[in-house]
Amino acid sequence: MKKLFEKTQLGNMTLKNRFVRSATWENRTTKDGHMTDELYKVYEELAKGEVGLIVTGYANVVKEEQPNPGMMGIYNDSFIDEYKKLTDLVHEYDSKILMQIAYGGTKTTYNLGERVIFAPSEVAERGTNTLGKPMTKDEIDYIVNAFVEAGRRSMEAGFDGVEIHGAHTYLINQFLSPYYNKREDEYGGSLENRMRFLMEIYSKMREKVGHDYPILVKLTASEFFEGGLTFEETRIICKKLEEIGVDGIEISGNIHGKAKSMVGQSFDGYEIKQEGYFLEYGNVISKDINIPVITVGGLKDINNIDNILNETNIDYFAISRPLLTEPNLIKRWKDGDEKQVKCVRCSKCRTSNGNYCTVFNK
Ligand SMILES: Cc1cc2nc3c(=O)[nH]c(=O)nc-3n(C[C@H](O)[C@H](O)[C@H](O)COP(=O)(O)O)c2cc1C
Repeated sequence: MKKLFEKTQLGNMTLKNRFVRSATWENRTTKDGHMTDELYKVYEELAKGEVGLIVTGYANVVKEEQPNPGMMGIYNDSFIDEYKKLTDLVHEYDSKILMQIAYGGTKTTYNLGERVIFAPSEVAERGTNTLGKPMTKDEIDYIVNAFVEAGRRSMEAGFDGVEIHGAHTYLINQFLSPYYNKREDEYGGSLENRMRFLMEIYSKMREKVGHDYPILVKLTASEFFEGGLTFEETRIICKKLEEIGVDGIEISGNIHGKAKSMVGQSFDGYEIKQEGYFLEYGNVISKDINIPVITVGGLKDINNIDNILNETNIDYFAISRPLLTEPNLIKRWKDGDEKQVKCVRCSKCRTSNGNYCTVFNK
């Protein structure tokens, strides 16, 4: 019988439990993405609260493309010292920490017109209606290199690994998607071509950071709309990622604001469930591949999570919003208070004064 509170190995990381703080943009940095005292405190609370593996909010890999205010930066070496302080702080509590690295893209309403936003093709993002600039080969190389450098900086700053953000309609997701990627060169068309951007980012980063440094990828299970990336394609992507050496995959989706209306519906033959929206998708993938799979989205009850652990091959459980409400949630559960999360998943946690639980932490 597998246990939630047992030591496990994810790549070369030894984790003290199977709980992950899923990447959560905190909106608490300086304008340029630098750390603030407030933000150190957020991470200290999570580490104190016994989260086994903390994933940072998404950090932008190039300075000029910041898809949201208050997000962490990793776009030059000036970040290394302050992140060393962060990783040392988290390690004091025996938690591990990954930096999530990202290029945003057209899923944004922030500072439109003030910057060039790259996209695979001229297809407006469905939610924001924003159009990006189709990338030239040189621009693709520039972004690939920016991810690689972000990986190197993360390693130098003492992060235990990185998570490449390939989900939620951001740039990498758009390259994977037949809806957003209409390219006619080697980066578009077949799934193999659509995967090329992600594969190049991974492979070049691997060359830079060496064989042992954990690199994880967060992916969208399915785009859940006609013409979008399908779950069957995501399964193939995951197999390929395993083959080339990725250490773990987090299976997500892009439904959180719409979860209420989508729970109970089936897509690609699998149901989106209230407890663990993407559980069925993560479960299938965890049987396809031998590297650890992390499920995220809608988890709320420790006994159900325990059942999932023992009835599926899913190894890790990532939580975002409930940890904004209760940063000590994991410790509370570990100490025997097994009440469900307080978070009601209303998604009112994004505010212009920082992202926090506006319902319980006024
Ligand atoms: C305020 C907020 C910020 C988020 N920021 C990120 C992020 O930076 N990167 C990411 O991959 N997902 C981000 N997410 C999505 C979460 O990681 C997670 O996938 C989603 O909230 C579902 O998990 P939950 O039901 O436990 O909240 C964010 C979610 C919220 C509510």
